[in-house]
Amino acid sequence: MTEKDFPPGFRWGTATAAYQIEGAVAEDGRGPTIWDDFVRRPGAVRRGDTGDIACDHYHRWHDDFDLLDELGVNAYRFSIAWSRILPDGAGRINGAGLDFYERLTDDLLQRGISPMVTLYHWDLPSALQARGGWAARETADRFGEYVRVVADRLGDRVPQWLTLNEPYCSAFVGHLDGLHAPGIRDEATAVTAVHHLLLAHARGVEALRAANVVGEVGITLNLTSVRPASADSDDVAAAQRVDLFENRLFLDPLFRGRYPDDARSFYAGVTDFAFVRDGDLRAISAPLDFMGVNYYERHAVEANPADPVRGWHRVPPESPTITGIAVEPQGLREVLERVTREYTPLPVYVTETGLALFDYADPSGAINDAEREEYFRAHIDAARQAMHAGVPLAGFYPWSLMDNFEWAWGYGCRYGMYYVDYATQQRIPKRSALWYRDFLAAREVPRLTPVRAAE
Ligand code: FCB
Repeated sequence: MTEKDFPPGFRWGTATAAYQIEGAVAEDGRGPTIWDDFVRRPGAVRRGDTGDIACDHYHRWHDDFDLLDELGVNAYRFSIAWSRILPDGAGRINGAGLDFYERLTDDLLQRGISPMVTLYHWDLPSALQARGGWAARETADRFGEYVRVVADRLGDRVPQWLTLNEPYCSAFVGHLDGLHAPGIRDEATAVTAVHHLLLAHARGVEALRAANVVGEVGITLNLTSVRPASADSDDVAAAQRVDLFENRLFLDPLFRGRYPDDARSFYAGVTDFAFVRDGDLRAISAPLDFMGVNYYERHAVEANPADPVRGWHRVPPESPTITGIAVEPQGLREVLERVTREYTPLPVYVTETGLALFDYADPSGAINDAEREEYFRAHIDAARQAMHAGVPLAGFYPWSLMDNFEWAWGYGCRYGMYYVDYATQQRIPKRSALWYRDFLAAREVPRLTPVRAAE
């Protein structure tokens, strides 16, 4: 790779999410969320781990931001916990929550590190789950109100906003697989949640625009690269079905203002889409300023003879990593090119990609995550190739700054560039962190000057 490959102003970052790193779940007025509830369900999370303490980032954020300086990034993606701002999900505003995220934002801006703020990274306030959660249309309106409160405080300085992180996971992993909060297993509820999440995105965009925020507005989808395992027409049809619910069910409403034609037939016995009301799709497809892509998976799909109408199988990869997923950088190139070719000319950011490992400190204290270093190198290269093929790629944010609470895995696997010793909360740079630091240093990545609204 050469200096010229990535344009000036390219955002080199890293990413985190509130519940995964903050801890301090009962401090300064934070209200409970569906993840606080879910982690207490026996068997829901490995070893019964919780985010109660996590990386204690709520208290250590300033030292953690020193790590960003050490890496030399010029961008950082974090999420705001809705229940720190509105402990009951709606109504009463908790000023201490706004103050916290204002401190984070201002400190990043002072360091020349451009914040990308995710407004919803899966931590729905419990009070809203009690009123139906994402199965209830009203939750989208509550999200819009919450976004308005945040925008009123931070809209004059945050350069980039993401409404939602990975609505696929919120909807399907949370409401069909039951592996994430709120732990529901019902397909009709899951598809209803898809629509209400997309509607929340719409309400969030409306709130940000109404508040005249200076920053750009986008959404992050986790997109997969899906291909049929063979040219057999049954396998091709099965791959199209998987592509429907993993990708097109989100991309089409956002960028084409409609659900894909095959959605209604695929879900025929499940739901009639009566939850879609006039005007919803127009609002969901309102113009954005950029698009975020999280990439982890590329897979081959074959038909399931036991269920030829809706069924499918994933062909297990030859070299799976500990999560069962293979390392397939080519898939990142494929999803990026697809977004540009089929959906939108908007600037695209890789807002997450990363590798789970069972990292450990060797006797000398070093954490030798050579596989993660290679993963990042290969995925940056794949993104560069996509860019050369015409994708307006504008930033790259490896997941994650440091090890953290990995949802249903708890602390059982690690994604960080910094190793977290949870007993002492010490952060130790892994080999991948040193590599990323050197990679950025070699490119002389300039810090970014903040945008500010006119006084
Ligand atoms: C993504 C999530 C992120 C993290 C990574 C490993 O699906 O957005 O919070 O858990 O996976």
